[in-house]
Amino acid sequence: MKISVIGTGYVGLVSGACFAEFGWNVTCIDKSSERIESLKQGIIPIYEPGLDDLVLSNVRAGRLSFSLDYAPAVEDSDAVFIAVGTPSRRGDGHADLTYVYAAAEEIASHLAGYTVVVDKSTVPVGTARKVAEIIRKANPNADFDVASNPEFLREGSAIGDFMRPDRVVIGAESERAKAVLKELYRPLYQIETPMVFTTLETAELIKYASNAFLAAKISFINEISALCEKTGADIKAISKGMGLDKRIGSKFLQAGPGYGGSCFPKDVSALIRIFHDNNLEPHILEAVTEVNLNQKMRLAYRVINLLGQDLTQKTIAVLGLTFKPETDDMREAPSLVIVPELIKAGAHIKACDPQGVREAKKLLPESVEYLDSPYDAVKDADAVIILTEWNQFRGLDLELIKKQMNGTLFADFRNIYDRSLVEKAGFTYIAVGR
Ligand code: UDX
Repeated sequence: MKISVIGTGYVGLVSGACFAEFGWNVTCIDKSSERIESLKQGIIPIYEPGLDDLVLSNVRAGRLSFSLDYAPAVEDSDAVFIAVGTPSRRGDGHADLTYVYAAAEEIASHLAGYTVVVDKSTVPVGTARKVAEIIRKANPNADFDVASNPEFLREGSAIGDFMRPDRVVIGAESERAKAVLKELYRPLYQIETPMVFTTLETAELIKYASNAFLAAKISFINEISALCEKTGADIKAISKGMGLDKRIGSKFLQAGPGYGGSCFPKDVSALIRIFHDNNLEPHILEAVTEVNLNQKMRLAYRVINLLGQDLTQKTIAVLGLTFKPETDDMREAPSLVIVPELIKAGAHIKACDPQGVREAKKLLPESVEYLDSPYDAVKDADAVIILTEWNQFRGLDLELIKKQMNGTLFADFRNIYDRSLVEKAGFTYIAVGR
């Protein structure tokens, strides 16, 4: 089968490389000549474990190529995936569909023979039908169907999520379109992946509802974590005790500094907008967002208060800046709220992150100092805060850290350390909800 993927961002590139790995012939198309040139040279613009090898081996095998032009790839394709960005529109939180509609227009002029145009980008309910309208208007003779096939890829484990998904959701309303998508995902039938076939609108909403539900689980446990700190209960034991109930499940129930990333914050606010557009009140979703921001502020102020409020003479080492480990993605990372709050209180920040520094430099105040090693970052610091649970920060030599530091505050905001070990090394230990 032949596929074109429009957009070589995170979703487009991972999906394109994985479909090629399934054995299909894939062309990834992007407007950015810089991006296409570097991909052609084997330079992968994002950090995602395993992606460079997967891209390279499929390019070598002749199954994966990159192009600036829709022609001739789209003409030859059985399916064209739209995987362009849908950023939050400034001001109102709506998903910005400019790139999706522009891609639809351009696809329309290149369609030849029966083609399924598949929305992979996360888009508001009704977008797939709008894409169909745009294509029909631009090319009334085109023989096509539109489908919705939302992605559920986590950064850092995107290839595994594509190759061994919990489910594949396909919104398709003609038998022809369903047959093409079934064939594309045939390799997953061998591992008995459940396929949910549904309407376009339902598929679009499954994506938003899934991400919003996971965000709600995190905000729920984060809200309980504040109560744990007041009552002396232990949030880790609570997560375990709750998670063992199969109706609840243990995943996405870890308290921390709040969720970030390119999806949860954006998708929750887009879903809030969709509710408002339909004259409905998104009570739970509003609370999910509020609790998430509160959590970041609450943790920043715990440190500020413990260090004496005026931090002008204080240095704080921040270990981990990205919104989660195994990515260089800084979008909506808790560090973007917590670090500026500490700086506002007067602190000098020494930060260390294995992959995020390049992006962090663009987003954090200029005064932040960046160090390659956590042991250099903690030198003369009054406090150390773990904000991202990178493996590099899980087994720190606590004695050495203590020796390097000026103060004794150890804030483990990912709950990865055993309190007694940290206290034994001479620190004052604080964590989230413990
Ligand atoms: C998410 C969804 O998981 C994926 O299905 C979707 O398609 C894209 O959005 P991603 O943003 O890569 O993936 O990260 P994820 O692993 O889901 O984590 C999101 C945020 O939640 C991170 O900031 C993470 O630290 C936080 N988180 C996650 C918690 O605070 N606690 C948890 O228990 C789990």
